[in-house]
Amino acid sequence: MFLDKPHAKAAQAPAHPRSANKAEYRRPQVIAITSGKGGVGKSSIAVNLGLCLCMRGHSVCILDADTGLANVSLLLGLRPEYSLEHVLSGKHTIEAVIQKGPHGLKLIPGAHGISECVDLDIHQKQHLARELARIEDEFDYLLLDTAAGISETTLSFIGAAHRMLLVLTPEPTSLTDAYSLLRLALRQGDVNCQVLVNMVGDVHEARNVFQRFSGAVEKYLKARVNFLSFIQRDESLRNAVLLQYPVALFPEHDPSHRTFQRMADALENAPPVETPGRRFSQCWLDTRAPDKVPDETETPRDEPDTMPSAESPSPPTPRSEALFSRDDTVTMREHELPLPTRRHGYDEARFGPQEQLADQLRQLGQQGIGLMERLKRLQKAP
Ligand SMILES: Nc1ncnc2c1ncn2[C@@H]1O[C@H](COP(=O)(O)OP(=O)(O)O)[C@@H](O)[C@H]1O
Ligand SMILES: [Mg+2]
Repeated sequence: MFLDKPHAKAAQAPAHPRSANKAEYRRPQVIAITSGKGGVGKSSIAVNLGLCLCMRGHSVCILDADTGLANVSLLLGLRPEYSLEHVLSGKHTIEAVIQKGPHGLKLIPGAHGISECVDLDIHQKQHLARELARIEDEFDYLLLDTAAGISETTLSFIGAAHRMLLVLTPEPTSLTDAYSLLRLALRQGDVNCQVLVNMVGDVHEARNVFQRFSGAVEKYLKARVNFLSFIQRDESLRNAVLLQYPVALFPEHDPSHRTFQRMADALENAPPVETPGRRFSQCWLDTRAPDKVPDETETPRDEPDTMPSAESPSPPTPRSEALFSRDDTVTMREHELPLPTRRHGYDEARFGPQEQLADQLRQLGQQGIGLMERLKRLQKAP
C-alpha cells in the first residue's frame, strides 16, 4: 500500500543490505539534534548548521522530526504543500515532499502540529524507514530535528544516529531534562553525545553550564559527553524567526554567521564516527520497539533518575579543559565585543552592501518584534 515506484538509486542498491560492503553505508553522517526542554534552539541550530555545511560543499538534508512543533520550514521561509504527515499516511513519497532551501539544503518538512505522530507506531516507522532508505545515501549529513524531551521516537532516533547533539541552555530545567533524556538514551546503548550550550552571555558561562552537566553525567551516569560549541544570546537569531531569514545567510564576517561556521568546524574536526555498516534507516528500524524502552522504575541504585539540583561544577577534566581552551582561542577574540555593540552602524568603508543589508534586516527584525509586543499588549487590554 505504501510503496510507489522504486527510486532509481534503490534499483541499483544491493539486494541484501546487511551483507553489503561497509563502505557503501558511510553516508550520510546522521546527527540527532536533541534537548530535554523545548525552545532551546534545536531548529535554529539545524537550519544554520545545515546551511553552513552546505556552503562547504556537503549535501545536507534536515528531517523535521519535531512532529509536535514542526517549524524548520518557517525558519527557512518555505511554504511546503506536503509534509511528513503525507509520507506517513502513504499519500506521497518522500521525494515528493522534499523541499529545496538555500545553498541546496534539503528539508523533509515536519507534520505540523500532529501531536499523535510524536510516537510513531510500528507501521509508520517501517514505512518511513523504507522511504528514507531510498534517499539517505544521497546526503553527506542527515540532521534530525527531534521533539524535545523523552518520546519513543526521539529515543529511537538517538539510538540509530551516529551522533547526538544535545542542546543545553543555562536554565536549570534545561540541564535536568537533558540529564533525564541522556540517562534513558544511554540505557539503549552507547551514545556519542556532543553538547552545544546555547543562549549564554559568554564562553565562561558556557564552560560553567557544560561542566555542571558533564560533571553530573560522569558522576552518576558513568558516561562522557563532549563539548562541541556554544552560542551567545543573540537577538539576530530571535529576529531570524520573524524575518524567516537564517543568520547563516548573513555575510561571512557577521558574528552570528561565524558562530555557526565555528560549529561546523567543530563538527568536521570531531573524532570520526563509527559506521555500523548498515543503512541508518535499517538501524533505526532495529532500535527497540516502543514496548521495550527502558522501564523508568529499573533505575540502578546509585544512578539518580533526575539530575541532583545542588550539583556543583566538577573540576574540569583535562579533556574538557582542552576542548574549552581550544574553543577559547577562537571565540574569546571573536566575542571580545558584546554582540549588541556591532549593531550600531557598520563602517561603510569596511563593510559592503551585503553587510549593510544584514544590518538593516536586524533593525527591521527588532522593529517587528517591538510591533508584535505592542500588538500583544493591545490584544490583552480590555
Ligand atoms: N542564541 C540565541 N539567542 C537568542 N534567541 C535564541 C537563540 N537561540 C534560539 N533562540 C530563539 O529561541 C526560540 C526557540 O528556538 P528554536 O530553534 O525554535 O528552539 P527549539 O527548536 O529547541 O524549540 C526562537 O525564537 C529562537 O529564535
Ligand atoms: Mg524546534
